[in-house]
Order: sequence, then structure tokens, then C-alpha cells
Amino acid sequence: MKTPGGSDAAKRRAGEHAADLVADGTTVGLGTGSTAAHAIRALGRAVEDGLDIRGVATSYAARDLAREVGVPLVALDAVERIDLAIDGADQVSDDLALIKGGGAAHAREKVVDAAADRFVVVVDPSKETPTLDRSVPVEVLPDARATARRALRDLGGTPTLRAADRKDGPVVTDNGNLVLDCDFGPVSDPDSLATELSAVPGVVAHGLFVGLADEVHVGREDGVTVRTADGSD
Ligand code: A5P
Repeated sequence: MKTPGGSDAAKRRAGEHAADLVADGTTVGLGTGSTAAHAIRALGRAVEDGLDIRGVATSYAARDLAREVGVPLVALDAVERIDLAIDGADQVSDDLALIKGGGAAHAREKVVDAAADRFVVVVDPSKETPTLDRSVPVEVLPDARATARRALRDLGGTPTLRAADRKDGPVVTDNGNLVLDCDFGPVSDPDSLATELSAVPGVVAHGLFVGLADEVHVGREDGVTVRTADGSD
């Protein structure tokens, strides 16, 4: 689920900083959420100024925004690899493990971000944490929601079916599935938990992104800090 997060100015700095990395002639993964939206808008302005790129949207929301600002799109099922993906996160740990899926877009986000040669995460400082401890969004086939819920409890989690805000009943994802937000408390070993979650029958995708982020651009009130997977600046 979403948290209010940090300031829009910090998000904008992070998004625009990452958009500056995009090179002419490349295929770019377009993330979902309020921070990635700043990158998409910046890319729209760059396209207007002559940048030649094609974007791969991670959600209906990202696709609609890209269309609005004039970023040319290519379908996800038409690309085998992506040069650079820019995406937000709900939490980023010290070792660049992520929790994503606050906007229920993590299934397509994972496909796009994992297919990218370079995956750049854009966040404000409220997303930084030493250890991941938010609920992990788990997208499940609708018919598997009861069995998956039991399996998630067996893994030590407390799953809650995500309810829609302006519709009666549950959130239905862009893929027609449901989301169980699963509270595991502090996640000391995200890699093992990710493996266990992936093995639950009916799980389409979970929001733990481990070993995927190459760098994290943190927008701050006075600039941007870049954190990299290998610890370099
Ligand atoms: C979408 O499902 C999420 O993974 C988003 O990338 C994440 O919620 C970050 O969104 P904000 O930038 O709006 O916080």
C-alpha cells in the first residue's frame, strides 16, 4: 500500500536526475508511481527537444502518462531487452533490496526492470530504511486467493486482501489478479523470502525486488544522492 512519502520536490529531483541518463536511440522502461512520473514527464520534454527513444510502460498509468507527454511507446511483448529502466519503490534497504507494488504494478514492473541492462530506482528519502519492513504486496490469481493466503501464513506472514478505494471489493490489477499485502515484520533475509514467495502456487509476482537495482537516485531537498549496488558513487 502507498504511504504519503516525501516531498514532491524531492521526487522530482530524483526522477529528472534519472531521466538525464537516457541516451538517444535507446529503449527505456517507464516505471509506475509519483516519482517515476517525474522521469516520464522529463523524457516527454526531451523527446520534444529531439531525443529519439521508445518507452516500455509498466502499467496503464505509465502508458497513459507517456502518451500524454509524447513519449513513443513499444509493447512489452515486442521487446527482449531494455537499455535502461527508471522506476520508483516503496522501500529501499541498505543493500538496495526493494519493496515495490504500492500501486499494484509490480508484476509488469519486475518484468521490465529485470529486462533492463541498467535499472535505476528513483525515491525520496522517506523510502530509505536499513531493513525492509513494510508489507510485501503479493499478486495472486483470483482463484488462488484462499490457498495462497494459507501458504503465506505458513511462511510467517499476515496477509490482507487489498481493498479498492473507489470501488466496492478488492483491487484488481492491470493483469486481472488480486493483491495480498503480507506483513512479515522486518525482513532479515529478503533473498530467501523472495524464493519462498515465488514458489507459492498461484503467486503471479511479489513485491520483493532483490539483486535487481543497479543504482538508487535519492532526491533530497538540496540535490540528489546516488547509491550503487557495488557501493561506488
Ligand atoms: C507501483 O506498484 C510501485 O511499485 C511504485 O513504483 C511505488 O509504489 C513507488 O511509487 P511512488 O513513487 O508514488 O511512491
